[in-house]
Formats: sequence, structure tokens, C-alpha cells
Amino acid sequence: MTNAVADDREFTFSADDYAFLAKLLKEKTGIDLGPSKQNMVYARLAKRLRKLHIPSFRAYCDFIASPEGIDELGATLNALTTNLTKFFRENHHFEHLAGQALSEIRTRSTTQGRRLRIWSAGCSSGEEPYSIAITLRQSMPDLAQWDAKILATDIDTEMVRRGNEGVYSTESAEGVPADIRDKCFEPHGPGKVRVRQELRQLIAFKHLNLMSHWPMKGPFDLIFCRNVVIYFDKDTQRVLFDRYANLLVPGGFLYIGHSENLFGITERFKLLGRNIHRKIA
Ligand SMILES: C[S@@+](CC[C@H](N)C(=O)[O-])C[C@H]1O[C@@H](n2cnc3c(N)ncnc32)[C@H](O)[C@@H]1O
Repeated sequence: MTNAVADDREFTFSADDYAFLAKLLKEKTGIDLGPSKQNMVYARLAKRLRKLHIPSFRAYCDFIASPEGIDELGATLNALTTNLTKFFRENHHFEHLAGQALSEIRTRSTTQGRRLRIWSAGCSSGEEPYSIAITLRQSMPDLAQWDAKILATDIDTEMVRRGNEGVYSTESAEGVPADIRDKCFEPHGPGKVRVRQELRQLIAFKHLNLMSHWPMKGPFDLIFCRNVVIYFDKDTQRVLFDRYANLLVPGGFLYIGHSENLFGITERFKLLGRNIHRKIA
């Protein structure tokens, strides 16, 4: 595969078009596509060109670079993010939350009050923050007496909308243990379920670009940022993890994805194992 994509496709897509889109994505989101994702970019954006009756990638690039293309630029970013997720993905993190993390938070609450703040950063369509909410419900019989809030953010506006709606296929809801599924979901038409209101009310879904200004002050007891930075270069990760450390309480926990690590990125966390990190500085 060379940089130029074959001309027999429906839309012409040159190496320059790819370079433009890859640079734009990196600048706007931190996502670094590298040199070889032309086919993925073509497949994901060809749908947009078709929908808008735009004849070539060159014309599409010109459009999103123009003031009139500002809304479409959002759609471009939505199309180019990878949103793969599922309920209780990397379940050991939820076990750690239910065990050590909540135990320490309870101990702290005797002097600092019953306040609990968790951030799911890069929450995709909501399965991660709902898994957090379900874990809290299951592990904290006195949850109603806590000021507990989960913030769930993503750059992809469509993912934020879906997370907020909380509607999933019955198949994906099977990621939630069978014995508690009925407590978590209510039927929502054929083949669909909706997360119950008592869980939905624990979460605020917001559109947020991790590369931009963050309006929240924190501090957070825990941050989940899993399978997000895998697409960022090391310098971008360095800045991001420093910002996370600034927003965590002393001793707070950071969970990252199975193929991510903080080696050579930051010394403000101590690895406890299985990609669970404690803020130490
Ligand atoms: C692969 S999903 C991971 C979802 C979930 N954390 C999990 O592990 O299952 C990565 C998410 O990060 C989001 N993302 C990528 N770059 C982002 C940025 N700069 N700001 C906020 N979210 C971003 C994507 O939109 C996508 O939904």
C-alpha cells in the first residue's frame, strides 16, 4: 500500500488529502493516525462525502477547512474516533473500585465527608460509566447518603448523546452479570433495554475534548481513562497524565487500558498492578 490510494475508488483520495486529515485530527484531538490508516479514513469518511454529495476528498477537505464547514468538522472528528467499548470491560478495574478504592474512600469520609467523584474520560457510548454506576449501586448500600457523582466525557458528540440516552441492545447488556441485569435495565422496545433511572441519575454526560480547557475543578477520587491514550503520542500523554494528577485527590486512583502504560511518561503515579495507578505526587 503506497500513500496514494487507488484511483478506481468512488472518490479520489490523494496522499495530500490523507496528510491533511491526519494533521487536522492530531491538532484537534491528539489522535495520531500514523502513516498507514488511509483505508480506514477513506472508509469512514466516504459515507460523509456521499451524504453531502461532495465529489472528492479534496473538496471535502476544503469544505471542513472553511467557516461554512464548521459543523461538518465535528462530524469528521466523530467519524474518525474509534469508539469500541463494552460493559465491564477489564473487569478487574471494577473489582478494585468495589474493594480497595471504596474502602479507602470510606475511611477518608470519616474526616472529609461522604463525597465521591469519579471521571470516565473518553467514555464512548456509556458502557464504562454505567459499569461504574452499577458497581457503586452494588457495593454501597448507603449510596443514597453520599454526594456521589460520575462525570462521563467524550469528544464524540454522538457518543455523548448515546451515553446520555442509555439505550443498548439486549446483546450488549449481556456484559452485565445476569443476576443483576434486571435491576440495571428496563425493556425499551424490541431487542433494546434502557439503563434504569436510578443509575442514569448518577452520571453527567458531557462533550469534552481532552486537549482543550477543562471546566471542572475536581478533585476526583478516581479517573478512568482507558483505551484512549493508545492513539496519542508520548508528549500528548505526558501533558494529559500531568493534568489528571493535578485533578486527583492525594492517593487517588487512575485506571488505564490494558495496552497502555505510564513508563517514561510521568512519575506522579505508582503502578499497583493491572494498570491501576495511585497518585503519589
Ligand atoms: C476506544 S474508546 C474507549 C472507551 C472506554 N474508555 C473503554 O475503555 O471501553 C476511546 C474513546 O476516546 C475518545 N477520545 C479520543 N480522543 C479524545 C479526546 N481528545 N478527547 C476526548 N475523548 C477522546 C473517543 O471518541 C472514544 O470514544
